[in-house]
Amino acid sequence: MLILKEGTARRRGRDARRNNIMAARIIAEAIKTTLGPRGMDKMLIDSLGDITITNDGAAILDEIDVEHPSAKMMVEVAKTQDDMVGDGTTTAVVLAGELLRKAEELLDQGIHPTVVVSGYRKGLEKAKETLEKIGIDVDLEDRETLKKVALTSMGSKAVGVAKDHLAEIAIDAVKQITEKRGERNVADIDNIQIIKKEGRSLFDTELVRGIIVDKEVVHAGMPKRIENAKIALVNKALEVEKTEFDATIRIRDPTQMKGFLDQETRMLKDRVEKVKKTGANILICQKGIDDLAQHFLAKEGIPAVRRAKESDMEKLARATGGRVVNNLDDLTPQDLGEAGLVEERKIGEDKMVFVEKCKDPRSVTVLIRAGLERMVDEAERAMHDALSVVRDVVEEPKIVAGGGAVEAAIAKVLRVYATKVGGREQLAIESFADSMEIVPKALAENAGLESIDILAALRSAHDKPKAYLMGVDVFSGKVIDMRESGVIEPVRVKEQAIKSATEAVSMILRIDDVIAATKPKEEEKPGGLGEEGGEEF
Ligand SMILES: Nc1ncnc2c1ncn2[C@@H]1O[C@H](COP(=O)(O)OP(=O)(O)OP(=O)(O)O)[C@@H](O)[C@H]1O
Ligand SMILES: [Mg+2]
Repeated sequence: MLILKEGTARRRGRDARRNNIMAARIIAEAIKTTLGPRGMDKMLIDSLGDITITNDGAAILDEIDVEHPSAKMMVEVAKTQDDMVGDGTTTAVVLAGELLRKAEELLDQGIHPTVVVSGYRKGLEKAKETLEKIGIDVDLEDRETLKKVALTSMGSKAVGVAKDHLAEIAIDAVKQITEKRGERNVADIDNIQIIKKEGRSLFDTELVRGIIVDKEVVHAGMPKRIENAKIALVNKALEVEKTEFDATIRIRDPTQMKGFLDQETRMLKDRVEKVKKTGANILICQKGIDDLAQHFLAKEGIPAVRRAKESDMEKLARATGGRVVNNLDDLTPQDLGEAGLVEERKIGEDKMVFVEKCKDPRSVTVLIRAGLERMVDEAERAMHDALSVVRDVVEEPKIVAGGGAVEAAIAKVLRVYATKVGGREQLAIESFADSMEIVPKALAENAGLESIDILAALRSAHDKPKAYLMGVDVFSGKVIDMRESGVIEPVRVKEQAIKSATEAVSMILRIDDVIAATKPKEEEKPGGLGEEGGEEF
């Protein structure tokens, strides 16, 4: 009896599972070497020949095209991690890889996948509980701590000397856009615009208290610098509207023609008048601005920008305290945004309009500068990680020690817990505990240290009470108090990494049947050479 369509490929049971595990592990192995400040970088070349050099887990997995479905799930793990917390992508994927490797060993011993999955779930719960316990509360006024968190996240990015400078900017930017909602802090880092431009050096990277609009002032006759700007934000074209249907206007004598044109002119002039009357001294328009309207604006000394992006308009409103109006008739003085300075500047090759020195902007900009294009890109990734971790701590003010310290602490707690659970699940929880240690192990390996010795030293350090801060210093090769050496990370990053790794692994382990509709074969072109050489043609 034929149930599945002809050509359907099917893998079942052990075979399916093994295949899935292998594919996912290959991805994890590939990015394991990038973990930590002494991790290696990957060079990625896309189909157009563009080169990216990075050590950022999310960026690497984003660039490579993977085919295998369970390998794709690992890419998803990195994406989720990046979306939710912004850092720890490599950790999450490496953890998932190790959880799978250990699971495979258990399966080989005849333990059913369901038992492994439920053991892993228990492991995850206990790990979360442990994180909650050993997490250290942070006072948000304690700038030093925030800075250390930012510096740790940039530890593995190739921004070296400028790290301090970037960390300060990240903290200022996040603090500026943080809002209080009841007792909670909310920091939406989408309100931080990142603009990158080659040229100058990393040290010229700056925080702009406002927004940079990547456009020029439309007319050469307009002023290029306005202090104490009152900004009209308009989402309506300053153009003569075209009718939606074709209309024919019959003109019988030249005076009518003139009257018609005069009326158009008057309409545009009126609109400019309206803007002027509100007290605005600069106009930023999301739509177009007619030549004639530009001319009138220039005459009034009101600089204007046209076709600003919608997202920029929203950010401008947040930064300047203004409101975007859809109709010029609605524009009142209260709708105007304010900025200490609006100026067109030439950055690199392009002219951009800086709307800056805003009083209390709810949206700010980080302008990233660096000598080389690749450097600018890496600085952007570093800035993204730094902004993310500062946001994480601001929203959930708890940190743990890095360098494998927190993973070793969780492993220790889990081993004790496993014996209490007993039975076959005990084995799975123990495997979960062992998997945690892949972090310090990989950190040590990547630093060229003897990972077995380091792991032994780490375990013995953790045997002592209150040792949850002890981790691997990849520079000296010693096991030390990581908090003292300033390597700290948000609890949220670690929790999410363990969670998304465990979830993906559980999903992969539960699959026992892979049914794939194979692609229809490409039709052979007549006259072309088939695979066998095409003798028949
Ligand atoms: N000076 C240090 N000594 C030891 N370990 C460190 C040090 N600085 C950072 N680490 C550790 O390096 C790990 C983070 O490495 P890395 O930033 O390469 O990966 P990730 O954060 O998991 O992923 P990604 O940053 O690519 O999203 C963390 O476990 C962190 O504790
Ligand atoms: Mg990181």
